[in-house]
Amino acid sequence: MQNNKNDSKVIIALDYADAASALKLAHQLDPALCKLKVGKELFTAAGPQLVEKLIAKNFKVFLDLKFHDIPNTVKNACEAASNLGVWMLNVHASGGSAMMQAALEGVSKTNNQPYLIAVTVLTSMNQASLSEIGIENSVENQVLKLAKLTQVVGLHGVVCSALETQMLRNQLGNDFCLVTPGIRPANVNQDDQSRVVTPSQALRSGASYLVIGRPITQSANPLNALEEIHAECVNI
Ligand code: C5P
Repeated sequence: MQNNKNDSKVIIALDYADAASALKLAHQLDPALCKLKVGKELFTAAGPQLVEKLIAKNFKVFLDLKFHDIPNTVKNACEAASNLGVWMLNVHASGGSAMMQAALEGVSKTNNQPYLIAVTVLTSMNQASLSEIGIENSVENQVLKLAKLTQVVGLHGVVCSALETQMLRNQLGNDFCLVTPGIRPANVNQDDQSRVVTPSQALRSGASYLVIGRPITQSANPLNALEEIHAECVNI
């Protein structure tokens, strides 16, 4: 996949408990300057109607529901998500190649052509938690193994830690989409993210898109915070 240089690389994580809070932020933003991520909490509370409202306001929406189930169920879930008109959706790569293939089939039954990406290893997991579920690979090798499987099946990319971006970019080439959370502009609170990089560092190391939540959503002026991030990245 070739990045479209006219497209904003910033995906704002709408980590809110209800539609009203999410819409309040969306009113303060410009769809030309960002995309929006709707995750499990907000989607469970506010449903597809919220996604449709955001799309009606011209925002591109990443539906971050990380599907992981039997292939037929994932195929139908991906078809339903794609029919909502989302710009990006995701599954767990650990569901295997048959499940990811089914996800692609579900999406291809629709007129929409969203990015379909996969989660490799959740960044909340470490060597001990992988071993606990029977995976003896190192975290890095497991990330790489699942990212390669994702690419072979034909999905567009993966979600990855900013610290894995460079390794994956080198291994998987320039056409693979790398969506990277754990981003903090210099001089802002790290919150509960322990291993962070700045927006410009992440783009330089090969990230295609940056997922950024609290540095924008908790800012007194979210549009300013977003514009400062763009200013930092303007020549990359
Ligand atoms: O507020 P903050 O910028 O930390 O939000 C990051 C967003 O990216 C959250 O929605 C979080 O769930 C998500 N995420 C993450 N780390 C991952 C995968 C997703 O922080 N490995």
